[in-house]
Amino acid sequence: MARIELDDISKHYPDGTVAVHPTRLTIEDGEFFILVGPSGCGKSTLLNIMVGLTAPTAGEVRVDGRAVTGLDPRARNMAMVFQNYALYPHMTVAENIAFPLRMAGLDKREMEPRVAAAAKMLELDDLLGRRPAELSGGQRQRVAMARAMVREPVAFLLDEPLSNLDARLRVQMRDELARLHRRLGTTMVYVTHDQTEAMTLGQRVAVLREGRVQQVDSPRTLYEAPANLFVAGFMGAPTMNLLPGVVRGGVLVLPMVELPLPAAAGLLEEGRPVTVGLRPEAFVRVAEDEHVARERVFEARVERVEWLGADGFVHFEVAGSGDHAHHRLVARVAPALAVTVGAPVCLAVDADHLHLFDAHSGQRLDVTATRSP
Ligand SMILES: Nc1ncnc2c1ncn2[C@@H]1O[C@H](COP(=O)(O)OP(=O)(O)OP(=O)(O)O)[C@@H](O)[C@H]1O
Ligand SMILES: [Mg+2]
Repeated sequence: MARIELDDISKHYPDGTVAVHPTRLTIEDGEFFILVGPSGCGKSTLLNIMVGLTAPTAGEVRVDGRAVTGLDPRARNMAMVFQNYALYPHMTVAENIAFPLRMAGLDKREMEPRVAAAAKMLELDDLLGRRPAELSGGQRQRVAMARAMVREPVAFLLDEPLSNLDARLRVQMRDELARLHRRLGTTMVYVTHDQTEAMTLGQRVAVLREGRVQQVDSPRTLYEAPANLFVAGFMGAPTMNLLPGVVRGGVLVLPMVELPLPAAAGLLEEGRPVTVGLRPEAFVRVAEDEHVARERVFEARVERVEWLGADGFVHFEVAGSGDHAHHRLVARVAPALAVTVGAPVCLAVDADHLHLFDAHSGQRLDVTATRSP
């Protein structure tokens, strides 16, 4: 069990690359914590700094309050699981799981119960005699987890451990990891570039971009109150629709519709340009919801429809102005309703579900917070 603190950690490489700008993060004891962001944003670097494989350029790493910055990975007793978990092909499952214990000099009698316990936890009991080539991808992944567990680490650090698996297996392993975390209660830090994985697994998620933490919050808060345009665009699929808006005459003017300002947004100055974020579910088919004020309704031509079973997504364009001739948007609609490609649909915007960002900085405008005391 471990609480991991990064105190103003940064990482510069000799060639001038700044992989991590000064970063402060605290991962609480027992937490399932996610580092998410696009390729090259510094996720693996941060994880490697935690485990001790990479030395930070500046800053301190603490585990349960104790500085470990200069310590060897072995002295930190954290287990790392990589994407290429590299099982030893000539060893059986049991030997693979036992390997870290053998390296630590334990004898057979000490090893056996611990290997058995790890194998049981991951439902590998019947596979102990097999070699990796005789296992499925998911089973190999479980062996890698068992091998990490057997040392009874204070934390698991997982670097994209599921990205080699096919989609169905990934969902299944995600579920198994979540269950394993509940049973063990051990701190887990999990790196992924996949926002769905981050949303479904994380208790808290740090979103990274170009070596800087953008926001650290629960998946729900990241979705409902993204701190800036980057987080807004990164979390959620299909991605949030972004449109230019301006406050004029007390209403928010969008390219296709005018909206009453949310109560607090009345504090925005007249003429202020904003970027308006609308999740696909912020649109309502008007036929379903006739009481919507008519001025919020607009007609859109359907360009493409995606049916995903429980959800349908309608892609449409609205005319823009200035640099943007068109804006491509996506709305979620109930699949029961017929939607025809090329035909118009009437949509309304649910004004309670809009996000406002500063048009220049991209920072969220928490308009309620700008009220002067
Ligand atoms: N040894 C190195 N020398 C110079 N630059 C490096 C070195 N190792 C990593 N980098 C750079 O540091 C940045 C962060 O790399 P890192 O591996 O942490 O990214 P990541 O978020 O894990 O990406 P991915 O999702 O592709 O694994 C990248 O720009 C990378 O090119
Ligand atoms: Mg990486």
